[in-house]
Amino acid sequence: MNHIDRRSFLAAGAAAAAAASCTPLRATPAAGRQTTRTDADAATRPCVISSGNGMPAVTRAMEVLNGGESPTDAVVKGVVLVENDPDDMSVGYGGLPNEHGVVELDSSVMDGPMHKAGAVAALQNIKNPSRVALRVLRDTDHVMIVGEGALQFARAHGFQEENLLTPKARKAWLKWKRNLNPNDDWLDDAQRLIPAKAQSNSANDIPFTWGTIHCAAVDTNGDLSAVTTTSGLSYKLPGRVGDSPIVGAGMYVLNDVGAAGATGRGESVIQSCGAFQVAQNMANGDDPETACLKVLTWIADHTKRQDLLNANGQPNFEVTMYALRKDGAYGSATMHGPRKFAVHDGNEPRLLECARLFETMN
Ligand code: GLY
Repeated sequence: MNHIDRRSFLAAGAAAAAAASCTPLRATPAAGRQTTRTDADAATRPCVISSGNGMPAVTRAMEVLNGGESPTDAVVKGVVLVENDPDDMSVGYGGLPNEHGVVELDSSVMDGPMHKAGAVAALQNIKNPSRVALRVLRDTDHVMIVGEGALQFARAHGFQEENLLTPKARKAWLKWKRNLNPNDDWLDDAQRLIPAKAQSNSANDIPFTWGTIHCAAVDTNGDLSAVTTTSGLSYKLPGRVGDSPIVGAGMYVLNDVGAAGATGRGESVIQSCGAFQVAQNMANGDDPETACLKVLTWIADHTKRQDLLNANGQPNFEVTMYALRKDGAYGSATMHGPRKFAVHDGNEPRLLECARLFETMN
């Protein structure tokens, strides 16, 4: 395996808490990454973290926290900006659709002090699934509502229905469909009967994503919340649900410990209870970055299908984990990278390098 010094990562004392099956791996120290605030800062200032597409989210969430609202309101108001952005093809309005060209959205949100979550999955026609998930959290005894039931619930709460498939996402979907199978009745790009200058470059530029936005916040009381929201796997089977709306997979909060979340290949995150494991690792004493790396190690160790492994026996997909501890320490780690995550700890929003489990994808 072409991995990064599999010996020394778990040499620290905290490693003793690792699951027995964890294989030791080590992250590349990334320039400019800062994972821990000083004791003097801890819990005296709020902190917000997000995935790399979350600069607007951490900025808005920090404004909301500074305005005295709860971490739950802060994270949802933060990610709504990205859900509304037609250019982010991994989330909300403008997200890539399922194989039938229909945008289906997933989201979950968890309030640390109440230890209550809300989630929606396979929601159509509503561009802010995080806001619908928040209504599930606050207005029902349930945790998750899916599909047509989620749409009815959203309608009942006055959410506006609209077509979420932007022209850009529709074109991407049609290109994917055309190039799916050379033997079907759709002509691949190379076969199309249109002037050469109108051809796009190749089938390789079809956008594809497991992309998602995760956002977590801690306020000056040390109270935590987290949200994850996504359009999920591009061109998925209709009804496919990823990790983002699954409490304990795409997002989790233990208010006396920390918050955690995930982006990337949802099937692997669900089958590792990813966010729950990150939170438990922190509860067992791991710093946030180590807590994330251990879960990526766990995923690597439990990826058995050959089609999901590269020539070196490593997962051939991306998963990124995020962790925010109650004292404001934070960290993130990704399977291959390079990849960044967003942080706002009171001064200004910035992007930091995620730690990496493996140096390269191949
Ligand atoms: N992580 C997003 C998804 O797999 O749906």
